[in-house]
Amino acid sequence: MNNKRLLAAIITTLIVSSPGPATAQSKPGIIVSVNKPIASVQPTMWGIFFEDINFGADGGIYAELVKNRSFEFSMPMMGWAVYQNKFNEGSVLVLNRQEENITNPRFVRITKNGVNDTLGLTNEGFRGMGIKKGLRYDFSVLCRQPTPGLKLHIELLSAAGIDIGNTTLSPTASGNEWKKEAISFTATDTAWKGKLKIWFEGSGVIDLDMISLFPADTWKNRPGGMRADMIQLLADMKPGFIRFPGGCIVEGRDLAGRYQWKKTLGPIEERRLIVNRWNTEFAHRPAPDYFQTFGLGFFEYFQLAEDIGAEPLPIINCGMACQFNTAEVVPLNELDPYVQDALDLIEFANGDVNTQWGKVRASLGHPAPFNLKMMGVGNENWGPQYVERLKIFSKAIKEKYPNFRLVNSSGTDPDGDRFDYLNGELRKMNADLIDEHYYRRPEWFLANASRYDNYPRNGSKIFAGEYAAQSDKTVSIHNKNNMATAIAEAAFMTGLERNAAVVNMASYAPLFAHDEAWQWTPDLIWVNNVQSYGTTDYYVQKLYSTNKGTHVVPALINGKPLTGQDSLYVSAVIDKKTNEVIIKIVNAAGTEQINNITIAGAKKLGPQGLVTTLQSDDLNSVNTFNEPQNVAPKETSVAIKGNKINLTSLPYSFSVIKIKM
Ligand code: AHR
Repeated sequence: MNNKRLLAAIITTLIVSSPGPATAQSKPGIIVSVNKPIASVQPTMWGIFFEDINFGADGGIYAELVKNRSFEFSMPMMGWAVYQNKFNEGSVLVLNRQEENITNPRFVRITKNGVNDTLGLTNEGFRGMGIKKGLRYDFSVLCRQPTPGLKLHIELLSAAGIDIGNTTLSPTASGNEWKKEAISFTATDTAWKGKLKIWFEGSGVIDLDMISLFPADTWKNRPGGMRADMIQLLADMKPGFIRFPGGCIVEGRDLAGRYQWKKTLGPIEERRLIVNRWNTEFAHRPAPDYFQTFGLGFFEYFQLAEDIGAEPLPIINCGMACQFNTAEVVPLNELDPYVQDALDLIEFANGDVNTQWGKVRASLGHPAPFNLKMMGVGNENWGPQYVERLKIFSKAIKEKYPNFRLVNSSGTDPDGDRFDYLNGELRKMNADLIDEHYYRRPEWFLANASRYDNYPRNGSKIFAGEYAAQSDKTVSIHNKNNMATAIAEAAFMTGLERNAAVVNMASYAPLFAHDEAWQWTPDLIWVNNVQSYGTTDYYVQKLYSTNKGTHVVPALINGKPLTGQDSLYVSAVIDKKTNEVIIKIVNAAGTEQINNITIAGAKKLGPQGLVTTLQSDDLNSVNTFNEPQNVAPKETSVAIKGNKINLTSLPYSFSVIKIKM
């Protein structure tokens, strides 16, 4: 059964089994009581989940164009090609100075014999390099010259091999000292799959490392920074928090491959690269050239959070590697360094500049604290081995920082034995925030809009830390971000919003995917080397996070919330800062529905409401690079008569109605 028919069947079931009236005309109205706030909506309610998966960091938001710039990939020349006419014209030798430099041992030695010989290197980038006409490109390299005499010609090539921008660099490094040389130049044309070429003029011997090329138009024009178009899409969401660096990346396939934040700070040539765990995870989507260079490290993630006004939420390894892979755990008597990493991270983010780690932060250019308030201990870990480690972390962190909030894992699934066990244990521990993950089919989301209606109001709060409707099934390569997934998530999110008393945070996952280098689909935002676009699901997330409000208010029909009756899902908030009521309505049916809404408890309402609607008649509709706005929110208005609205909800639509009070 295709998606559309399947969803239609489910919706029909919901309609038939619903206690609601049979026809739209005879429907009772929806009553939104703006004077009866139920709970505060946390400023953190809608956030983003960032992980270096699908080339999210290297080859993604990290704007470095050179792949394997330091020759540290398992195969040192991966991404590079050497060209020369004749074998004896010179050589490119990979040297490994393991004893002298353990974080960045390899470099290449270029030896060119005669001035008329030909010798050069090309770098293919991350599935090509996106080059923009008229834009400045910043080239840099670490070099030393055992036998001076070589000049570097740096060229950008189009896919057809045509020179689209070049410059020359005459290194000044002398003796045995490494020196960073840099030069900028402008591209004369655009290329979607460009390359970098470096050829050598003269004769001599030169050592090269950290060969780097960045576009000038990075986010906030920071040298060595992030891809601005991708970050802008995040900033546009006005997210309440950003979770980083993952995801399974935190755990690693084994403990040696776990994410270690301390190794991601400082000069980039000192950040030791590791293989990205998604490199080999899926045989059906191999990515042998996927490594974590940590050009983006924890300092940059904190800075990003600050830039986009999101609370930082780092997730730290809890002494366990991914349980789907090696499932290694650290013995409890060796857990101390892991716990210390967590304590030091808080000091790094918040400590006075005179503290050990506060000083490090200041030395990186940020003396002011980042005001870190929360942290996740473990990603998707489960079992008693998790609980016993978590207790040790929690005790140590709470003893030192009693008001610090901890996110705890409830495992990989929102139900089942593992979940039930952890949910019980975490509640006994009075966990601050329980992280629930659901990668499920759209019908699960539609059927679970009331999941939190009966969750306990006291005690642990919920972080819906990773979720995405799967149009096919989890880790299937056929999953799409389409209207069916967007509508299902929007419907489910009415339940998160209605239960803001319990649900304090939520984020879709994963966030980014490169269209030629992804491992996991669906994803919120798709990119290629030049373009990026938000999916249908992106617009759902954005509509929620930019219409967050400050307090949930009841939106009831016959005294009950709308959780799928007549395929309708409704929630409402008021915003005490802007004095607005904001109603969210999802019509998951393929037919139009007229809804009568009464706004109760307001002294006066504006003459009309602003209606922003995401809609498509076809559940298979998607956005693409060619049609990035195929399904995008559209604004209309609706008249308000007294305190009543007659709203037409289009088939398969998600509408946000904003009314001044
Ligand atoms: O979002 C992709 C992966 O899904 C995350 O890394 C992991 O936490 C979950 O299993």
